[in-house]
Amino acid sequence: MSIVSKEEIQNIRNNINIVDLISGYVSLTKRGKNYFGVCPFHDDNNPSMSVSEEKQIYTCFSCGATGNVFNFLMDYEHINFKEALKIAADKAGVNIDIDVTRKEEKENPVYKIYDISNKFFKNNLNTKMGMDAKKYLKDREISDEAIKEFEIGLSLNEKDSLTNLLLKKEFDNENILKSGLVLKNEKGMYDAFYNRIMFPLWDLYGNVVAYSGRDYKNQSTNKYVNTRETDIFKKGELLYNYHRCKNYSRINKKVIVMEGFMDVIKAYDAGVKNVVATMGTAFTNDHVNLIKRLSNEVLLCFDSDDAGVNATISAADILTKNNIVPKIIQIEEGLDPDDYIKKYGKEAFVELTENPTDLIDFKLKHYKKTLDLNSSDGLSKYVNLATQAINKIDDDILIEVSINKLAEESGLDKQFLKSKIVKKDEKKEEAYISSSKPIIKRKYSKYEKAEMNLVYYMLNDVSIIQSYLKKVSCLPSKRFRDLAKHIIIFYKKNNYINEADLITEIEDEEIIKTIGFLNGLNLKKDYAKEEIEDYIKVIEDYNLDYSIELLKRKLKDSRSSSEKAKVAQEIVELKMRRDNND
Ligand code: CTP
Ligand code: MN
Repeated sequence: MSIVSKEEIQNIRNNINIVDLISGYVSLTKRGKNYFGVCPFHDDNNPSMSVSEEKQIYTCFSCGATGNVFNFLMDYEHINFKEALKIAADKAGVNIDIDVTRKEEKENPVYKIYDISNKFFKNNLNTKMGMDAKKYLKDREISDEAIKEFEIGLSLNEKDSLTNLLLKKEFDNENILKSGLVLKNEKGMYDAFYNRIMFPLWDLYGNVVAYSGRDYKNQSTNKYVNTRETDIFKKGELLYNYHRCKNYSRINKKVIVMEGFMDVIKAYDAGVKNVVATMGTAFTNDHVNLIKRLSNEVLLCFDSDDAGVNATISAADILTKNNIVPKIIQIEEGLDPDDYIKKYGKEAFVELTENPTDLIDFKLKHYKKTLDLNSSDGLSKYVNLATQAINKIDDDILIEVSINKLAEESGLDKQFLKSKIVKKDEKKEEAYISSSKPIIKRKYSKYEKAEMNLVYYMLNDVSIIQSYLKKVSCLPSKRFRDLAKHIIIFYKKNNYINEADLITEIEDEEIIKTIGFLNGLNLKKDYAKEEIEDYIKVIEDYNLDYSIELLKRKLKDSRSSSEKAKVAQEIVELKMRRDNND
């Protein structure tokens, strides 16, 4: 791997505007000089993240997350610096040559085992033994292109063909078993999958980490068998097709979520590629966090049976709690997306995905179907559920439209129904105001104020760094002392100062957060030379007081009278300096 120079890194950073980068993930609104959006690094609905175009950094006033373009990419995509650099370079149109294989993948042999298995399974499908499986895929109208893209393979009708292959490759038994692809009983080791069509499951980075094997001969009571959970595979924590969908959902600015991976493959064949699937597990907050990283516009396209409708409503509620109101792609009753494509064709499916139903309409339709609106009890349950659903809407006009409809359907008074809707605006405004305020929780001492101001201006002005170097030996608080140390190291190496570039060189998150904290104080931009001199003096006083305090203790502990006299003399001298300062 070639080493990327500091200049190249700075060049990449300079060629990306942080506002453009973050806008690709979070919607930003300009307020004054800065841009504001909902912080993706903690649970929030308020725009507490500020992005400074001038400084090319972001700061969340609520959780403190701070950084430049690289930090944003690292934290958002859960990647390391090298990977972030590579993505940033691509976006900036800068060519760099770096190896982004993660350390974990290089060191854990289980990835290699999956690599070899994958080649083996894929190859099997193209042999004579794969003829029936190929026919099965053809009957299900899965194209050759999709077979290739989704790396579909076949495990053989033998109990140990993969086991033998892996043993021949000289992997340790321990690692082979750790992969979950090989099991063990008293007779020895044997393949976990045999005679199944093999669908690889990828982690977020695109490594194969497990399989789902489909029975294609109707031989088993289990339609699908999955690799057991391993160190590198947790079924509920991944979304099928995530790593591929990333690009497509960014282009389309939306993501479609399905229940089965077969549906994803068929949708892909129909040209709908911004799709992921939940692998048949219950929808969780882990899923939401992954989906949020793909897009804030979410379409749910679950199966249309009762279980699917209930899963849709509970997934929609979890998403809504996380500030994403999904729309629903409704499949004709009794079908799943795959069946729908088979029955009506690709174009009809594409059209369906382009005309999703609003969540509120979907819910009301479902409630109406399950309740008897002619009975008083049914009608009152319906109105209750409907107002609860309307309460979750965030759009004034949609609320009004929905209340009008509900009034018509139920025959109840519009004003009465309105009184059941919580006024959201007021709550929101309050939260907004409190969140846009910087985190000043307490009054600061004059020493703290002095060091905060001093370090803040050091971040922006080389001449203040020089004064600091000349006159200040040490700052009272550790966090500002640490930051000052980093500023000085950066300045000595580079001969300039710039917050965004400084952040690239700091690994300690707490120190980066301190930069965000200082920016959140909204200190004024311009300052007089005298002010800086005052701050320096205050800190000198603090340091003198501190030294005097130490000497006093030393005096108490001194045994010999000559030492006592020496220390006393030192104290007198420091006190004189201290008095002169005032
Ligand atoms: N699933 C599973 N084990 C099963 C059944 C289902 O792990 N016995 C998971 C699979 O990940 C599957 C998802 O649940 O993709 C959805 O299940 P289902 O709707 O039953 O599968 P389909 O996608 O319809 O698959 P097929 O069309 O092949 O029947
Ligand atoms: Mn199906």
